[in-house]
Amino acid sequence: MDESTFISKNFKPKGGKIICESPSNIALIKYWGKYGLQFPINPSISFTLSNCKTITSIEYCPRSKGQERFNFLYDGKTKKSFENKIGKFFNRISSFCPYLENLFLKINSKNTFPHSSGIASSASAFSSLAFCVVSIEKRYNEKMTEQNFLNKVSFIARLGSGSGSRSISGPLMIWGENEFHSESSNFFAVNFGKKIHSLFKNYQNTILIIDDKIKHLSSSDGHKKMINHPFLNDRKNQARNNLKRIINAISNGDLQVFIEVVEEEAMTLHALMMSSHPPTVLIKSQTLEVIKLLKNFREKEKVPICFTLDAGPNVHLLYPEKYKLKVIKFIEQKLMHYCQNNLFINDSIGLGTKLLEF
Ligand code: DP6
Repeated sequence: MDESTFISKNFKPKGGKIICESPSNIALIKYWGKYGLQFPINPSISFTLSNCKTITSIEYCPRSKGQERFNFLYDGKTKKSFENKIGKFFNRISSFCPYLENLFLKINSKNTFPHSSGIASSASAFSSLAFCVVSIEKRYNEKMTEQNFLNKVSFIARLGSGSGSRSISGPLMIWGENEFHSESSNFFAVNFGKKIHSLFKNYQNTILIIDDKIKHLSSSDGHKKMINHPFLNDRKNQARNNLKRIINAISNGDLQVFIEVVEEEAMTLHALMMSSHPPTVLIKSQTLEVIKLLKNFREKEKVPICFTLDAGPNVHLLYPEKYKLKVIKFIEQKLMHYCQNNLFINDSIGLGTKLLEF
């Protein structure tokens, strides 16, 4: 396969309106480091989330000569930083979606999670945008199968944000070439599609908001720090090996291995940043306090809970649904005061992008 598979014919759509929603996702094996146009240096696998999502609506109509391409509002208000990112995104995807040149798009998007939660929203933002854009194409291309549609949505979302490629479907998505999953590709993410042990049904993800500020290092800058990283090759081997281990653990319900791998991946991501040039620390002392308390709780109460981290200080707790009440009680009693404004967000695994109106 090559990228030409994703080039659409040009056509001139009539006006219309589309609304869709797309969730965030949490990586178990981390995508960290990229090359070329948003290709990952190693494969990653993630749980799709359910409550933390972006809702995007696009009203579109034929574009007149000289008219701008789009207008963007975030929750009804202008937001320059987003607008610039979306402009770059449209430039990147224009050769794959040439019909966009014929349209003026009025885009409005909003998130279901609090503005100031410090949760990265690029995955849900770009996957919802990609879903809207490729849905317009699908209307004019009767030959596009459902699978081709999902692949292209993921491909286009990837060009906006790598992790966004994994929000399209669920509950488990895999992205990046590897020898353990033959359909997994660098171009787009696919549904894991293999046996998932019943223990993982409705798996819970509670996000402890340790810091609600916007990250001081963007993901893009973090990825760049991997290019000349002294441990780059070791990292590639580790990710490959961890992918193999987690695929088996997920199929067999081996929570011990699952916990080991997920936590190793989270700590490695931060260890790689601390050992990069110049060293960068993205976690806070509260992150480490919470991790320590979590491990004590796990041992003492025999609850198979683990943590993972993205490129920031917030802690994602992952655990089977049957322990939900016990975990929430533990959070309220011991962890909540480490969170900014006592904020934590309950989520669980979900099925990906959804069309709301077209
Ligand atoms: C640490 O997808 O946000 O969350 O491709 O530059 O948009 P860009 O990066 P992004 O990186 C996510 C990194 C991560 C790990 C992961 O989600 O796999």
